Amino acid sequence: MSIRLIVLGAGGFARETLDVLDALEEVDPGRFDVLGVVDDGPAEHSIGVLAARGVEVIGSVSDLLNDELAVEFDAYVIAIGSPRVRLELAERMPGEIRPAPALIHPLASLGTDTRCDAGVIVCAGAVVSANVTLGPHTHVNPNATIGHDAVLGRAVSVNPAAVVSGGVVVGDGVLLGASSVVLQGLTVGGGAVVGAAACVTHDVAPALTVVGVPAR
Ligand SMILES: CC(C)(COP(=O)(O)OP(=O)(O)OC[C@H]1O[C@@H](n2cnc3c(N)ncnc32)[C@H](O)[C@@H]1OP(=O)(O)O)[C@@H](O)C(=O)NCCC(=O)NCCS
Repeated sequence: MSIRLIVLGAGGFARETLDVLDALEEVDPGRFDVLGVVDDGPAEHSIGVLAARGVEVIGSVSDLLNDELAVEFDAYVIAIGSPRVRLELAERMPGEIRPAPALIHPLASLGTDTRCDAGVIVCAGAVVSANVTLGPHTHVNPNATIGHDAVLGRAVSVNPAAVVSGGVVVGDGVLLGASSVVLQGLTVGGGAVVGAAACVTHDVAPALTVVGVPAR
């Protein structure tokens, strides 16, 4: 039987997530039945482009959190790009009531003994190496690379083409900007932001924003 899935968020990353689901449908037909998306304030553009691919906005995030959606569902996925928002939502989700599956695009590569927790999304072209841990609701965007033994916490966003080197530890709610690089063995503290194209050569303190090469 298909898993009846709700997608949280109607924005751009929701459509990227729907692309992952479409690709999974190709290789594993019927695994998921996408019931629709929920969003507290979807933009007109989002409603239009979702409708064009046959996906409806079926309620608000509040409806979902209060278990007041008009449809029965089995699982959910938080398809919102902002790590901060995702972290907040993950903490409020009735996780015990409904699970969040990990969604791995068939064109992503996962190494041996790599762990993907609930709600993880790995997009096309991403390469996740051996013995990596991806914490709950962490997103790995297209063409990003995660080195061996890296440990990523909850609701981390690894933006497109970012490189997380071997043994790096990334705290909860971190944003690693597009094409950024974190050198091996470093720690990026929870809530930190690494700007696009930055090269991180030293540990980053929690909640700090760093940019540039070397990142400061
Ligand atoms: C670092 C970042 C978070 C800063 O965002 P912000 O706080 O809104 O900063 P602003 O855009 O106001 O820019 C502030 C200053 O930092 C500079 N800056 C911004 N991003 C930078 C970056 N990645 N590298 C170097 N300098 C950067 C700006 O030029 C500006 O400098 P100025 O004051 O001399 O003009 C953001 O620019 C970024 O890189 N985010 C990642 C985006 C990403 O990955 N996008 C892909 C999505 S798929």
